[in-house]
Amino acid sequence: MPTLPGLDALHARIDTAALGPQAEETGRIEELADGLAHVSGLPGAALNEIVTFATGAQGFVLSLAEDLIQVAFLDPMEGAEAGQSVTRTGALLSVPVGEGLLGRVIDPLGRPLDGLGPVKATERLEAERPAPEIIERDYVTEPVATGVLVIDALFAVGRGQRELIIGERGTGKTALAVDAIINQKNTDIISVYVSIGQRATAVARVIEAVREKGDLARTIFVVAPAAAEPGLRWLAPFAATSVAEWLRDRGGHALIVYDDLTKHAAVHRELALLARQPPGREAYPGDIFYLHARLLERSAKLSAARGGGSLTALPIAEIEAGNLSAYIPTNLISIADGQIVTSAALFAANQRPAVDIGLSVSRVGGKAQAGGLRKASGGIRLDYAQYLEMKMFSRFGGFADGAMKARLARGERISALLSQPRFEPVSTLAQIGLLVALGEGLLDALPVEQIADLRRAAGPALAAEPALSAFAAAPDRLDAPTRAALLETMRGVIARLGAPAP
Ligand SMILES: Nc1ncnc2c1ncn2[C@@H]1O[C@H](COP(=O)(O)OP(=O)(O)O)[C@@H](O)[C@H]1O
Ligand SMILES: [Mg+2]
Repeated sequence: MPTLPGLDALHARIDTAALGPQAEETGRIEELADGLAHVSGLPGAALNEIVTFATGAQGFVLSLAEDLIQVAFLDPMEGAEAGQSVTRTGALLSVPVGEGLLGRVIDPLGRPLDGLGPVKATERLEAERPAPEIIERDYVTEPVATGVLVIDALFAVGRGQRELIIGERGTGKTALAVDAIINQKNTDIISVYVSIGQRATAVARVIEAVREKGDLARTIFVVAPAAAEPGLRWLAPFAATSVAEWLRDRGGHALIVYDDLTKHAAVHRELALLARQPPGREAYPGDIFYLHARLLERSAKLSAARGGGSLTALPIAEIEAGNLSAYIPTNLISIADGQIVTSAALFAANQRPAVDIGLSVSRVGGKAQAGGLRKASGGIRLDYAQYLEMKMFSRFGGFADGAMKARLARGERISALLSQPRFEPVSTLAQIGLLVALGEGLLDALPVEQIADLRRAAGPALAAEPALSAFAAAPDRLDAPTRAALLETMRGVIARLGAPAP
C-alpha cells in the first residue's frame, strides 16, 4: 500500500499526544473588592495558585468558599470588571532564588525594583514551604553577632533562633535590625530584609544604610511597600523566607528581618474581611496565629545530615501605648524564642538602643554566646538591674552610702557602655575586653563621658594585640593568660584616653 508523505510523522504525533484532561479552566469575576476578586467557575483551583485576569493582571487564590474562590491581585486591578474571564495557570506562588539575588531589591514575585534588569535565577521555589521536621534540626548553639552590645551581651541571638524586636513606633526597632545586618559585613551570614507595608522612603533609607555601612552584595531586599497591592504585602514574608531557605538548605547561613509582622497581620485581616471570612478577636481571622507560626517555624538550625545550614529570624512588631499584651504582640511573643523590647521612655531619655532589660529575654541566650563572651557578661545583667532600681530610690533623697555610691557609679558606666549610636558595631573581642575591664573595676575611675570613646577605641587596640590573636579568631576560652592580656590592653587604652590609671 502506498503511504502518503508525512503520514508516519502524523501517526507518531497522534501516538504521543496528551489526550488527558487539560488543566486550563476559565472562570469569571463575580464581584470586585479592594485588591480582591470573588471568582466563580474555577472549582479545581488550588490555594496559592496563580490565575490570570483578562486585563493581563495576575492574582493568587487566597481562599476557597463553596461556589466562589477569592483571588488577591498581584498587579494593579485597573480595568478589571465583573463578568471578565479569569484563567487558571496551574502554577503556585513562587519566587526566584539563588546567588543572582545577592545585592538586589525585588518585589515578592522576584520582579526587580532597583532598575538593574531582571534577576538572574535558574530556579524558583514555592513561597509556602513546609518547615523542617524536628529530626532535621539541631540545637541552636552558635552566635549571630549583632555588634550591638546590649543584645550580644544580655540577649544573645543564636543561629536558627527567632528573636522578636517589639516596641512602639520610633523607638529604634528598624535601627537595631539594620545594625545587625550591617554587622554581617565580614561574616558568613547573608541577610534578607523584608519590608512589609513600610513607606517607600523608609525602605530607601534602610537600603542606603546597608549600601554605605554594610555589604550590599551580601544582602537581599524583598520589598512590598505600603502602596503595593495587599496581595503582594501578604506574600512578601513567605516569598522572602523561600529566598533565605535556598541559602539555608545549601549549608549556608542566613539572617532574615521581617519589618514588620504587625503590618502583615493587618493586611491578612484586610484580605480576610474582604473575602468574607468570619472575623475573630479584634476582627482578625481565626488562622492569624497559625499564619505567623508556620512562617517563623521555617527559621531553624539544620542538622549535620541536612547540611548544617541555618536561618535566623528577627521579626519586628509594633505596639501601641506600650501595650505588650495586645492580641498580635502576645501571639508573636509566644511564637518567637524571645523578645527584645524597645521602650519609648528609654528612647526619650536618650538611652539608645532603648532596650528594656526587664522585659527583654532570649530563650536561647547564653547557649549561643561565644564562650568568652558568656563568661565576661556573667554579672552585668544583675548589676545593671540593681542599678536601675537603686537609681529610682536615690532620686527620693541623698541617702546613698559608700557601697551604694560605688554600685551607682558602676551602673552609670554599664548604662553608658550599652548606649550605642547606630552604625558603630562592637566586635565580639571588644565586647569581651570591655566587659572584663568593667568587671575588674577599670571603668569606675573613667568619667562617664569617656565611656563612648573607650568603646570605640577598644576594638582596634585589642585586634592589634598579638597575644590576643588566637582568642580573637575563636573567642571561646577566656583563660587566665587571655584575661591578663585583655586587661593589660584595656589599661593601655584607658591610659591613652587620659584618665588616671586605677
Ligand atoms: N541607637 C540609636 N542612636 C541614635 N539614634 C537612633 C538609634 N536607634 C534609632 N535611632 C533613630 O531613631 C529614629 C527611629 O528609629 P527607627 O529604627 O526608625 O524606629 P522604629 O523602627 O521603632 O519605628 C530614627 O531616626 C533612628 O535614626
Ligand atoms: Mg521601623
